[in-house]
Amino acid sequence: MFEKQIYVKRRATLLSKLQEAGARGLVLLLGNADAPAQYKDNCYKWRQDSTWLYYMGLDEPLMAALLDIDSGEETLFADDVSMDDIIWMGPQPSVRSKADSVGIARTAPYAALAEAVRCGRPIHHVNPSRYYNILKLRELLGSEKNISEVLTEAVISMRLVKADEEIAALDHACDLGYEMHSVARDAIAAGVLEQEIVGKMESVALSKGWGVSFPTILTQHGETLHNHLHDKLIEPGKLMVIDAGVESNEHYASDFTRTYPTSGRFSTKQKEIYQIVLDCNEYAFSLTRPGITYKEVHQATARRMLEGLKALGLVRGDVAEMAAEGIAGLFMPHGLGHNMGLDVHDMEDLGENLVGYERGQSRAKQLGLGSLRMARHLQPGYVITDEPGIYFIPALIEKFKREGLGRDFVNYSALESYYDFGGIRLEDDVLVTADGARRVGSRRLPISVEDVEACF
Ligand code: GLY
Repeated sequence: MFEKQIYVKRRATLLSKLQEAGARGLVLLLGNADAPAQYKDNCYKWRQDSTWLYYMGLDEPLMAALLDIDSGEETLFADDVSMDDIIWMGPQPSVRSKADSVGIARTAPYAALAEAVRCGRPIHHVNPSRYYNILKLRELLGSEKNISEVLTEAVISMRLVKADEEIAALDHACDLGYEMHSVARDAIAAGVLEQEIVGKMESVALSKGWGVSFPTILTQHGETLHNHLHDKLIEPGKLMVIDAGVESNEHYASDFTRTYPTSGRFSTKQKEIYQIVLDCNEYAFSLTRPGITYKEVHQATARRMLEGLKALGLVRGDVAEMAAEGIAGLFMPHGLGHNMGLDVHDMEDLGENLVGYERGQSRAKQLGLGSLRMARHLQPGYVITDEPGIYFIPALIEKFKREGLGRDFVNYSALESYYDFGGIRLEDDVLVTADGARRVGSRRLPISVEDVEACF
């Protein structure tokens, strides 16, 4: 948790943004509840709601708050523990002291929330991220669907711009991510079971932070973008994609991807594709600065990738024309990056397009560009991922070929020898600064061919 004044200031800023926008009534913030995995006392690992964490900091289940936009009055709804709770969980701080720790003046029992929202005034809430809170909103308000646009917009505008304490927390999460990835890389050897490496790397996340920031991707089939199976023995001569991150104890995420030659040396063919992806990663970073849209960065990077593939003879013709035709999506069917913060895909529970797109921007339909989760004009304080990749997905290539897509541009016969290649993705986390960008964390994971090979 940060110090009290940070939460006081965030809530005051939120209320003044809502007042400026002409909103009236109450902001309803809902914390998460424990989620039973089977019976009620055996729950999934506890994780607080991120919007709640941002404004309220309190990292415990079954809490809610009402913030009065008109009067500024704030109330925390939560229950003091019972004797039964003390027997099983030990003594706990009082609700009063928890409220004090985040600067909230009034407290009330959790059950009093039902009466408090029945006041005939507008109630503003964001999209609930968990089923429990969908049901809670139905119980309280009759529906979970009346999402407050003005509140959602205000929350997104605040959480997109990371303050100094958040940047420090993200640097820390990325340092833990660095350590986790180093452990994974050092464990790669032919004959080792993938799951063993996952166990080693996730132990870093668990012993130094809250855990992983998303399910670890570690695979010799990098062409499957989110492969969560870890049941293969490592084979020599393959490419191993490791896309993983740590969530720190402050609940900030890191998210890095590296691709390693399982034999410790890249083959010529692997090196050629790797260099294109690395060039795209560096190029995207060089373009990242306030004022440019991340959609422009994605599109420029996609053209750069096509130039590299053209030099290898895998595509032919005019790069601008093939980019317009969507040929980049055949090789990179995902976006260049996403927002990052308290969530690895920050705030996507509030609405992927609301977070990643601003008024006047719409999401493209094209393969690849259509998966871009962050298109906005960049501003200092934004934290985004830079994660280009090249993948050879036989089923997708065959579909393009069958349907005659890109027939003027794609060298389908040359692609046949890449059907067992796999994929390569290289991802860094990037902070937009006043005059450019810097990578988050104090050290960058080795990424050049020479530096990667020197690790083995
Ligand atoms: N790095 C995993 C993801 O962005 O979904």
